[in-house]
Amino acid sequence: MISFIWAQTDSGVIGLKNKLPWRIKSELQNFKKITLNHKIIMGRKTWDGLKTVLPNRENIVVTRNVNYDVPESVKLINNISDIIKNFTASKEEIFVIGGANLFSSLKNVVNKLYVSYIKQEFPGDVYMIDIDFNKFSLIKEEEFPQFSFKIYKKK
Ligand SMILES: NC(=O)c1ccc[n+]([C@@H]2O[C@H](COP(=O)([O-])OP(=O)(O)OC[C@H]3O[C@@H](n4cnc5c(N)ncnc54)[C@H](OP(=O)(O)O)[C@@H]3O)[C@@H](O)[C@H]2O)c1
Repeated sequence: MISFIWAQTDSGVIGLKNKLPWRIKSELQNFKKITLNHKIIMGRKTWDGLKTVLPNRENIVVTRNVNYDVPESVKLINNISDIIKNFTASKEEIFVIGGANLFSSLKNVVNKLYVSYIKQEFPGDVYMIDIDFNKFSLIKEEEFPQFSFKIYKKK
């Protein structure tokens, strides 16, 4: 099962200069809680911005560059059909953690959405892709002082 997890402002901002536009500790803690011990898949630009392996998760980076250099513990995927083939029908939940470009490549196969709606607006240069929420049902919501966290499942 393929899940997306991201944080956005009301206007859809998710990134600025290859980084998160905000520093919200509780949001990062929530992200960690949800993704811990799972596979996390990210686009090459998101990896470039992170520049560090997220611990206790299998870090997978997607790039078309077959020679792209990553630390030994990080797995590279050059063809997203490998992700689709291996995980759409599997019971294992894997988390696509962004960014917009990778979300766009996988939006037709996503099953679950984990969204943090940040309560403040921030400037940004990368926006979340359009997702048809009519195809999803809200299954959980949790209020935090700086964001609302919602989980949706494909109908
Ligand atoms: N707020 C959030 O929750 C959140 C989450 C994640 C990221 N972000 C932010 O989003 C921004 C980055 O997003 P982005 O959309 O610019 O880039 P991205 O999705 O992180 O990375 C794009 C790159 O991923 C690779 N890629 C994507 N689709 C592919 C496919 N179908 N096959 C093979 N490779 C593929 C390509 O790498 P190559 O060019 O190497 O081939 C592509 O250039 C940053 O600012 C980051 O901080 C925010």
